[in-house]
Amino acid sequence: MFYDLILIGSPVHFGKHVGSIKDFINKLPKSKLKVNNYSVFNTYMGDESGTTEDGVCTYTRMLDKIESQINEKMPNLTKISPGLPIRVNGMKGPIASEDLPKCKDYGMKLVQNQQMVTIS
Ligand SMILES: Cc1cc2nc3c(=O)[nH]c(=O)nc-3n(C[C@H](O)[C@H](O)[C@H](O)COP(=O)(O)O)c2cc1C
Repeated sequence: MFYDLILIGSPVHFGKHVGSIKDFINKLPKSKLKVNNYSVFNTYMGDESGTTEDGVCTYTRMLDKIESQINEKMPNLTKISPGLPIRVNGMKGPIASEDLPKCKDYGMKLVQNQQMVTIS
């Protein structure tokens, strides 16, 4: 199975992506799924005030961790767009209303970037 783009997302659990997504990424190189490009997103419940020592938002740092794992396992995959952190209201969502426009924008940019890569 060949795909232009894969989106990999995870809820933030204790500042990290969940084990099932880590396993999924680990298994991707040997799977039948062949992909060119990727982008990542997460959902989190905390507020934006959580920062690491160097001032980077913890939810952004979590996206960096998924991207690092993808780069390590599949160095040939190209990141097609910056990752998207999505705030949810409550343990089961829904997505916070102020984040819905960001999700739409993310989707639009993914399609545009994918088209640019495909044409060039
Ligand atoms: C075990 C557990 C740990 C969690 N840890 C965090 C956390 O460190 N930071 C945070 O913002 N939200 C945390 N959450 C909230 C989840 O991010 C939230 O429930 C999830 O994004 C909702 O999406 P889902 O319905 O797909 O699971 C945690 C939730 C659970 C169940």
